[in-house]
Amino acid sequence: MSLFITFEGGEGSGKSTALKKINELLIEKGYQTVLTREPGGTPISEEIRNVILDKKNTDMDRLTEALLYAASRRQHLVQKVWPALKEGKIVLCDRYLDSSLAYQGGARGIGIDKVLDINMFATEGTFPDMTLLFDIKPEIGLARIAANAGREVNRLDLEKMSFHEGVRKTFLELAERYPERYVVIDASKSPEEVLHDAMDAILAKLGK
Ligand code: TYD
Repeated sequence: MSLFITFEGGEGSGKSTALKKINELLIEKGYQTVLTREPGGTPISEEIRNVILDKKNTDMDRLTEALLYAASRRQHLVQKVWPALKEGKIVLCDRYLDSSLAYQGGARGIGIDKVLDINMFATEGTFPDMTLLFDIKPEIGLARIAANAGREVNRLDLEKMSFHEGVRKTFLELAERYPERYVVIDASKSPEEVLHDAMDAILAKLGK
């Protein structure tokens, strides 16, 4: 059974760490998985990612940014996600369409529905089967990043606190809008508890 699972959340929510562990646990259980990320995941998409996240590009127009994310997303679907789903694999993706809705649609103020429109075009309506939202207050998430010297700070980490609050609020609105695919995880808990909660939700979806 193929399954498309996306991992969403604000900065420093710990979703990427949980994602790697979940991938290992699913492989141990005999599932075939593909671990990937957005923006990026294929050479062309990674090139687009570098343009978007480059600290030099502070004057990037918000619609340009939304279109670049959608372009990167499409290339990643075509080259990686759709083929893996066709082969019956579990695709675990670090960020997807909901990040565009929360960051560009909500926090940047373009509007959720406008950003959804260009993404419907880019993805041909491919929604995840399941979206895990790693929910955390921005001040806690950003403090974690500051404490983690190994993680490079990118252009979006440097945004104002109100921006990150807008991201969180929009993600929580999306969880209400799409209750059939959203699971909200309390990411302020310990890494072990967060992993446990996320894994439980995935195993329930797999019927285990
Ligand atoms: P990344 O270093 O991958 O951050 P994280 O570890 O938090 O996932 O940077 C990705 C950044 O891009 C992150 O700040 C969220 C942002 N983003 C958007 O604004 N829109 C999108 O559609 C996507 C996929 C990401």
